[in-house]
Amino acid sequence: MDHKKEQQKQQAARAAADYIKEGMTIGLGSGTTSRYLIREAGKRYGQGLHFYGIATSRDSEQLAASLGIPLLEPEQAGKIHLAIDGVDEIDREFRAVKGGGGALLREKIIASWAEEVIWIMDESKLVERLGAFPFPVETVPFGMPFVKRRIADMGAVPALRMGDGKSYLTDSGNFILDVQFAENTDISQAAEQIRNMPGVVETGYFGQMCSRIAAGTSSGVKVMENPHRAV
Ligand code: 5RP
Repeated sequence: MDHKKEQQKQQAARAAADYIKEGMTIGLGSGTTSRYLIREAGKRYGQGLHFYGIATSRDSEQLAASLGIPLLEPEQAGKIHLAIDGVDEIDREFRAVKGGGGALLREKIIASWAEEVIWIMDESKLVERLGAFPFPVETVPFGMPFVKRRIADMGAVPALRMGDGKSYLTDSGNFILDVQFAENTDISQAAEQIRNMPGVVETGYFGQMCSRIAAGTSSGVKVMENPHRAV
């Protein structure tokens, strides 16, 4: 384990937890950084800060429930005041790629409904250019082979995500293709092209959805506002 990285994730999570206020409904992200957030939020709940959570994955749901955070189902949730989640890559224009943990579909639904979105991370996630991280594409199982061929026709390399020796299944029962694009591919354009292929449920391109980011760095946490926010 990279202790420095873990410390940065934890610091970012703590900084984001300061935005949770009494009575809010909070979208709880998925992945290792989000686990720090959920633990911190659980601690604050125990200290008397009351809020509701809505989880972006079964993992996060289980963790939050084990910490005593009251959880809402989608039909119970009115406003989502704030969503806090991790990212896999983010560029200077605040364009993010997510889905390394396979929760991209629920994560995008929650982020798109949330009034405010905070992405939390260690500094390794801040990149000059998107594209190094394999780009996640969620497909219905029947459509996967067709989508895979069409993505290969674009000159990219799609690989079916595996887990425990079988095809990885998302919480919604879908497959994930992890796509490596050719160098200098415009990820937002490629994502749009892929999003339009029948059989694709969602992609890991999260555009400029966040209101701000909190990044743990070697010189402390940096909170940056996104001037381009587009939901
Ligand atoms: C899960 C995600 C995660 O937020 C992303 O993969 C970052 O994970 P981690 O905090 O473990 O680096 O998008 O679908």
